[in-house]
Amino acid sequence: MTQQTLTAAPTVQLAAGTHMPLIGFGTHPLRGAEATEAVLHALQTGYRSVDTATRYQNQDAVGEALRRTDVPREEVFATTKLPPDSVGYEFQTLHASLKALGTDYVDLWLMHWPPGGSAGVSAWKQLVRAREKGLVRAIGVSNYQLRLLDQLHAETGVYPEVAQLQWSPVHFSARYLSGCAERGVVVGAHSPFRSARLDDPSLAAIAQAHGASVTQVIVRWNVQHGVAVVPKSAHQDRMATNLDVMWFELSETEMKTIDDLSELE
Ligand SMILES: NC(=O)c1ccc[n+]([C@@H]2O[C@H](COP(=O)([O-])OP(=O)(O)OC[C@H]3O[C@@H](n4cnc5c(N)ncnc54)[C@H](OP(=O)(O)O)[C@@H]3O)[C@@H](O)[C@H]2O)c1
Repeated sequence: MTQQTLTAAPTVQLAAGTHMPLIGFGTHPLRGAEATEAVLHALQTGYRSVDTATRYQNQDAVGEALRRTDVPREEVFATTKLPPDSVGYEFQTLHASLKALGTDYVDLWLMHWPPGGSAGVSAWKQLVRAREKGLVRAIGVSNYQLRLLDQLHAETGVYPEVAQLQWSPVHFSARYLSGCAERGVVVGAHSPFRSARLDDPSLAAIAQAHGASVTQVIVRWNVQHGVAVVPKSAHQDRMATNLDVMWFELSETEMKTIDDLSELE
């Protein structure tokens, strides 16, 4: 591989002390050799965060890339997720993830969805235990509303460190972002492009003003909000483009223009 390695993404410190890159590589729906090659290329390109899940059925392929890469394990922030149907089998599921990934810890373990629409307090207690045992460095949730975060805290005294959700300009919520900040929770953005309107004229104008692409503007907007975004691409040129956003800065006015594209609230 000859591709130049880009500067690593900035990081954010999570509540229990670990540092999470603000740009990570999304691996869904890649599987098998395609997933292994994609993660290898992503690491070669400069990504230092990889987002997988038990449900993606690609942890073994991601693990193969982690084994084959020259990048040391401790430099990679590996995230995986507990599916709601594994409630009651949390540690079996975690050990299967660790085995597939070929590692003795993951950096971040998320509850993939609220089980049955509830906060999933019993499962959350197991995530807390897993962090205490050092099997996971940080714990969080995905697709949770603020009231469910509060329910977890009310029952266990522990807030998630990360709350990942579908997040793009269309889904921007100032209430969610500030609510998470008040609770010490870092917002994670999944599906940043698939859930956006990439043909939006204001995004195009901002991109043109900086000589950037619309996807770069979306990634940069997340980074400036302190949101940890995980774009996926199976193509090396796009992987590189999506990570290469530290050479321009969005003004306050541009940030507000993008926030205002929200179709929520
Ligand atoms: N927690 C959850 O419930 C949840 C749910 C969904 C996703 N996720 C995570 O979030 C990650 C990203 O979300 P996603 O895969 O749904 O969607 P995404 O990253 O928003 O978009 C991926 C799509 O955008 C295309 N793309 C990527 N870079 C591009 C570029 N520079 N220009 C034009 N098109 C580009 C990709 O095509 P090519 O691959 O052909 O380049 C692919 O079709 C997933 O991989 C997964 O890790 C989490």
